[in-house]
Amino acid sequence: MAQPREQWASRFGFIMAAVGSAVGLGNMWRFSYLTAENGGAAFVVLYLLMTAFIGLPVMLAELTVGRGARRSPIGALQHFGGERWRLLGALFVAAGFLILAYYSVIAGWTVRYALIGLIDGFGGDAGERFAAIATGPRAVLWHLLFMGATVGVVMGGVRGGIERVALVLMPLLFVILVGLAVYAATLPGAAAGYRYYLEFELAGIWDMDVLAEAAGQAFFSLSLGMGAMLTFASYLPRESHLPNESLVVAGADFGVAFVSGLVVFPVLFALGLQEQVGDSTVGALFITLPTAFAEMGAAGRVVGAFFFTALVVGALTSAISLLEVVVSSLIDGLGWERHHAAFLIGVTIALLGIPAALDTDVLSAMDTLAGQFFLMLGGLGLALFVGWRMADPEGEVRAGAEGVRWFFLWRWLLRLVVPGFLLFVLWSMRESLAAAVTGLAGGGLE
Ligand code: TRP
Repeated sequence: MAQPREQWASRFGFIMAAVGSAVGLGNMWRFSYLTAENGGAAFVVLYLLMTAFIGLPVMLAELTVGRGARRSPIGALQHFGGERWRLLGALFVAAGFLILAYYSVIAGWTVRYALIGLIDGFGGDAGERFAAIATGPRAVLWHLLFMGATVGVVMGGVRGGIERVALVLMPLLFVILVGLAVYAATLPGAAAGYRYYLEFELAGIWDMDVLAEAAGQAFFSLSLGMGAMLTFASYLPRESHLPNESLVVAGADFGVAFVSGLVVFPVLFALGLQEQVGDSTVGALFITLPTAFAEMGAAGRVVGAFFFTALVVGALTSAISLLEVVVSSLIDGLGWERHHAAFLIGVTIALLGIPAALDTDVLSAMDTLAGQFFLMLGGLGLALFVGWRMADPEGEVRAGAEGVRWFFLWRWLLRLVVPGFLLFVLWSMRESLAAAVTGLAGGGLE
């Protein structure tokens, strides 16, 4: 432990990096897709509730552990919990590996789409185009290029890489997205789109699977359950106000998801394509949205290019945080040098993603296993850890936030409400999880 730990240059820099982690494909693509599939406004409300009552407490728990220990996940959990809790940290790192592997493949698609919008426009058969982009050697290539960019940023370090990139890219993303939402408001289908998106119907909300899906989405979108926020918080100074930071990050994350819906739904309804979104899973928006952009003529090209550029930007800042979890674990745990760690792990993850770039079923299975199951499991572990194991989390979180009175409430959420609910979600995932695991194992034996 020779060198002192790196630190963010400013509070704003940390916020942009953390929001950059949270805002990604999950907000702009998975959120709209899930909302379309699950009946619009009811899902949005459910998602907001999940963010507030499950996501926020876990986020605050991650920030508390990370800042308190000033270490990456494995070391941080050991610091507050002893040797055995290293296992939970290991689960976090494994999740980081797997999620980034397939996430980078999808990010590669978004780069292709952004370029297509800029160069040729979205004409032609959207389904065929998606098939050609999503799998095969080209998909591998763009996945590798995207991983290269991610590695490049993480090599630059906390201030010189992660923070600097987030400070430029996140404001860019906000401007693009708001611009697109304003434009979408002028489309002929805007009213119908808004109605679908915002009209509240209680009927859809009582479905247990929808509940579980909303919780999973909240976790994924907020980058929780695998120590990403924990790692970022380990570079925070002790006087930072953690409740405020978590509110700002969660608020921005929800805001971006919400505004993305204000872009996607008017576009879909303007062209009568809303029925098609619920059809397939991974490719839904990648097929339907470009179809809409193509029919919008010249404007559609510009809008499409901007939309996919925003996706690329969101994906990059998220991928950075995923890689940083693993990299910082090696730096802290084994004393590796940052450049070497980033390069070696980047190569490993790039290789791990190749099967996902060759087969979307593998990609979906990896998403179910790591992007949903591991995150829930990790969130459960962390809630129990901070709720029951850690000696004085309230004292820890109070530093920098002395005026806050409700920390005991937070502790009880972590002790009972969050674990109870996550157990239920894990239980309701069992079938899709079993299918994913047998799928992955079967694919490996072929
Ligand atoms: N939150 C990102 C998104 O919405 C994805 C992501 C980045 C993530 N880092 C993470 C998900 C850590 C879970 C854990 O696209």
